[in-house]
Amino acid sequence: MVVKKLAVLFSGNGSNLEAILQKLHGKIFGETKIEVALTLSNKADAGGIAKAAKFGLKSVILNHKDFASREEFDAALVREIEKSGAELTVLAGFMRILTPVFTSRVRAINLHPSLLPLFKGAHAIEQSFESDMKVGGVSVHWVSEELDGGKIIAQRAFEKSAGMSLEAYEAKIHEIEHELLPQVIVEILCQS
Ligand code: GRF
Repeated sequence: MVVKKLAVLFSGNGSNLEAILQKLHGKIFGETKIEVALTLSNKADAGGIAKAAKFGLKSVILNHKDFASREEFDAALVREIEKSGAELTVLAGFMRILTPVFTSRVRAINLHPSLLPLFKGAHAIEQSFESDMKVGGVSVHWVSEELDGGKIIAQRAFEKSAGMSLEAYEAKIHEIEHELLPQVIVEILCQS
């Protein structure tokens, strides 16, 4: 049995962190046991902190405003990740632009609520909802220096139903995210 450690970084509600904890933390997949070794937020009031606490995990808080530059903040992130022994880092609603200080040192994946390369950035749900496209979807990709631009690992699409509200569209995206992200993590950790 090999233990593979994960770091999860988040800024907000943390519903994807919760899905990872429920589906993967302490669970065995073949010869691999997955452990979430680090939960980290840049926001002291992020909802994910209480969700991690339910699993006995005390989150590390690093407020980006306490650092003089993006690079210094990223160096602190790298230190925490390296200290945790995580071999894969998951950005699950982590709303920071990362510099090469982070991207060159950390093996990380990001979850994005659109069919990339369409609708990059922080307003993907609203923009994809308002677009003429008949489908919406979710992407998981490797983190690179380009925002929402690394190599795509997995995507899942769904058809917009007639008269679908923004709330229903958003709920469908989150439902897919909670399935897809844990699946991708297992695939990566159990292959490597
Ligand atoms: C998700 O929609 C994710 O795709 C985006 O931020 C949101 C995070 O949601 N990057 P939560 O904090 O996991 O509930």
